[in-house]
Amino acid sequence: MMNTINTTQLFSESTVHNKSSHCVSSHLENLTPKDSFSGKGLFITFEGIEGSGKTTQIIMLVEVLKAKGIPYVTTREPGGTKISEAIRDLLLNPEFMEMKPETELLLYCASRAQHTAELILPALEEGKIVISDRYFDSTYAYQGAARELDEEVINVLTRFSTYGRNPDLTFLLDLPVEVGLARIKNRNLDRLEQETLSFHEKVRRQFLSIANKYPSRYIVLDGESQPEIIHRQILSTLQPFIGE
Ligand code: TMP
Repeated sequence: MMNTINTTQLFSESTVHNKSSHCVSSHLENLTPKDSFSGKGLFITFEGIEGSGKTTQIIMLVEVLKAKGIPYVTTREPGGTKISEAIRDLLLNPEFMEMKPETELLLYCASRAQHTAELILPALEEGKIVISDRYFDSTYAYQGAARELDEEVINVLTRFSTYGRNPDLTFLLDLPVEVGLARIKNRNLDRLEQETLSFHEKVRRQFLSIANKYPSRYIVLDGESQPEIIHRQILSTLQPFIGE
């Protein structure tokens, strides 16, 4: 059983994802320590379009952490705390289709500020692994690329609402928009899920572009692979922190 996380190791620029293959195995061998890592806890985020399978992967990962006795917290954005979950209800409610993009951006950031201060930072301070279903990359994808809001404004709001703490590692589950949307079509769709195909295409493209820009933080996984295969890739990536 392993209760301490080796947080001195992270990923170097050499973990560049080959976008054309969506294959992680080849660059996992290149894991090396990342100098800038703070050494406290491990902040992991999952990103992807609707229906990308993030939640399934988080559940599978948690089973492993539980079995190993590794301290962790799972959470989500928008949400994660009482106030942030109340903001989530506002944001996703399909009765509020008239919501302005600016209002939407500010609410996501308001939710994040509370979530980060109340839950994420204290858990990291306690040395836990924090696993968040979405974080600020979703803002750059949805409000930045898809709603076309000013990136400079998002930069400022992001620094403000995260207290400057970036995720250490982000798993992007990438798959075609049609495939993701087909997976969720029988749900009651929320306000964002009801957006057009081209909106979701912009979101997907932006996630891939962010992953390409920050290869030291990002692992892009093929969201069309079998869940068990994706799970093994995630475990293999996390092996330096959680062991075999
Ligand atoms: P989900 O929890 O089912 O993924 O729903 C959250 C929705 O909110 C999803 O459509 C993505 C969207 N979202 C944003 O538009 N901006 C953000 O910053 C975050 C965190 C989520």
